[in-house]
Formats: sequence, C-alpha cells, structure tokens
Amino acid sequence: MSDTILRVSDLHVSFAGREKDFDAVRGVSFELKRGETLGIVGESGSGKSVTARSIMRLLPSPPSYIKQGKIEFQGQDLSLKTEKEMESIRGKEIGMIFQDPMTSLNPTIRSENKLPKVS
Ligand SMILES: Nc1ncnc2c1ncn2[C@@H]1O[C@H](COP(=O)(O)OP(=O)(O)O)[C@@H](O)[C@H]1O
Ligand SMILES: [Mg+2]
Repeated sequence: MSDTILRVSDLHVSFAGREKDFDAVRGVSFELKRGETLGIVGESGSGKSVTARSIMRLLPSPPSYIKQGKIEFQGQDLSLKTEKEMESIRGKEIGMIFQDPMTSLNPTIRSENKLPKVS
C-alpha cells in the first residue's frame, strides 16, 4: 500500500460571482505521506484556507466549486464521497483546527489524549 495519505493534484477552486467567477486557488499540488508534516505559507488571501476547506469540503457550494483537480485521501477520491461519508471522514480521519485555537482546543486536555493514534 502507498504511504501517501493525502494527494492534492492541480486543484483549482473558484467562487461563482454575478459578473464573473473568482479563481481563488489556481493549480495547487502537494502530497503528504504518513508521519509527515506540511506547512503551507503564503500572504493573506493567497488561498491557504480555501485549499484546506476544500479538502474537508467545508466551503459553501454554491458559490464555491472545484473547477479542476483532484483530492485523494488514502487513495480515495474525496469528490466522489457523499456528504454523509464526508461527515464520517471529518469526524474520525481528518481534523481541522480553526484559526482561533481557544475555540477548537481544550487547554486542559493534553494532545496525546485527544488525537487518535496513527497505527
Ligand atoms: N466565500 C468566499 N467567497 C468569495 N471569495 C472568497 C470566499 N472565501 C475566500 N474568498 C477569497 O479567496 C481568496 C483566498 O482566500 P483564503 O483562502 O481565505 O486566503 P488565506 O487563507 O491564504 O489568507 C481571497 O481572495 C478571498 O477573498
Ligand atoms: Mg486563512
């Protein structure tokens, strides 16, 4: 089995607009292997949050849509998942810590107790 957990290939995400669509993410590709940590750095508005929310399918659609590209998680194309399947993936397999960590994390719980063990 491949040890690639997440593969994002040529991802383009746009927002439908009245006059014309806004292309927020234009051709992002990266790969994440088991045990790796990846930081995505860029100026404000460069599309980091839209990329992350697209993976989690947490962008309102409409107006957002994946114009091009593929998101594969553990070899499975996430765009083919139903919303119910995505809810299960979001609950058990992929977590998101939002920008204000005090609303996402409980400071009294240590991380090793909170995060599921990767076997
Ligand atoms: N719901 C939305 N509708 C229209 N444009 C959006 C929406 N969310 C984000 N954008 C635009 O997409 C671009 C990328 O935003 P974002 O991913 O939040 O940037 P970053 O997280 O890198 O600061 C920005 O130009 C932003 O204005
Ligand atoms: Mg952001």
